[in-house]
Amino acid sequence: MSALSGRRIVLVVTGGVAAYKSAYLARLLVEGEAEVRVVITEEATNFIGPTTFAAITGQPVVRSLFSSGQVSPHTELGRWAEAIIVAPATAATLARLALGISEEAASATLLASTAPVLLAPAMHTEMWENPATQRNLALLRQDGRSVVGPETGALAGGDEGIGRMAEPEVIVEALIDLLAGPLSGLTVLVTAGGTREAIDPVRFLGNRSSGKMGHAIADEAARRGARVHLVTAADRRSHPAVDLIRVESAQEMAEAVDKLDVDIAIMAAAVADFRPKDPRGSKLSRSEGPPDIALEPTPDILSAVLSRSKRPFVVGFSAETSNISRAVEKALRKGSDLTVSNDVDDPGAGFGVDTNRVSIISAEGDVEEWPLLSKDEVAARLWDLIQSRLNP
Ligand SMILES: Cc1cc2nc3c(=O)[nH]c(=O)nc-3n(C[C@H](O)[C@H](O)[C@H](O)COP(=O)(O)O)c2cc1C
Repeated sequence: MSALSGRRIVLVVTGGVAAYKSAYLARLLVEGEAEVRVVITEEATNFIGPTTFAAITGQPVVRSLFSSGQVSPHTELGRWAEAIIVAPATAATLARLALGISEEAASATLLASTAPVLLAPAMHTEMWENPATQRNLALLRQDGRSVVGPETGALAGGDEGIGRMAEPEVIVEALIDLLAGPLSGLTVLVTAGGTREAIDPVRFLGNRSSGKMGHAIADEAARRGARVHLVTAADRRSHPAVDLIRVESAQEMAEAVDKLDVDIAIMAAAVADFRPKDPRGSKLSRSEGPPDIALEPTPDILSAVLSRSKRPFVVGFSAETSNISRAVEKALRKGSDLTVSNDVDDPGAGFGVDTNRVSIISAEGDVEEWPLLSKDEVAARLWDLIQSRLNP
């Protein structure tokens, strides 16, 4: 499997002579098993036709905000992208990006995305050395954009000098570096949300979990370069690079988890311990009076993951009400590598809110209390901790 397998890459082609080389770049990305979508500026179509890119990628090319057949191509592509390459990046496009001007599909897609951006500038030496171009480039670097090239060599029209677009192979290497993070090469499973156990076709037993914590953990893992499968019972969005698997009941979650072979499993879902034994096939009627609902245990998803022959590094979650000793006892009994415990009675921690106050319980039962943090901060600290455990 290549480092680009399954990665979602947007290639933005702008109006420079080097645009002809971008067809080969698109081909290299496709050969690397990346999913590639191309956005081309109107000026770039003077140098190369969209049909070439459509044929290479097998996907329609976006050249306009208003006639691509998509309602909102820039936001759709911006969210979809795991990385965006601009190759060639003209001086005009660099200027638009530096200022946030987004009047056409290419710059609007870049503005509408949080994905990392790799710029491959190409232009004549005078344009490259112009203070305006250098100023725009400095701004773009400040904004965290990565730049590859330009190189010195033969330019169009028989000129020599700096301004030649980096070769497509070099751009691919730079892209692989850009996508790499501390979790690159690792496959992660995150479970999230509260399961719903059917009583009848319209009613369920559920819990107050919103899935915010689990989704924050999955998103952070994706940002750090992991391949992430998020099995979620929550109706929330996730980072575009996350493989989102929606489930409803504990049984569905158990089956989805069972299919995934992973290196790290973060079991953040609030899984029902019990479910109605005989869910009714049709809606219960008030006139029948209150039903007796017999319960039965649901599958123990955490234990199933812990007892795999190829056991991943496992982080369990335990939501308790003012009872850390019960969380420690559970952590030791279950045998997770780490357990994240939160006191759901604590205002500002637990279900539905954007913050969390957690304690981390080691496999030996040692407890470390973290302060009140946003769920995004908890996710980042948790990944820092897991990384330090995996690479002491
Ligand atoms: C023959 C020709 C070659 C060009 N080559 C480049 C180039 O290599 N780099 C560049 O920045 N602009 C180049 N330009 C100018 C751009 O095409 C022009 O600035 C255009 O507005 C860029 O639009 P875009 O960035 O939206 O694609 C060239 C123009 C012509 C006529």
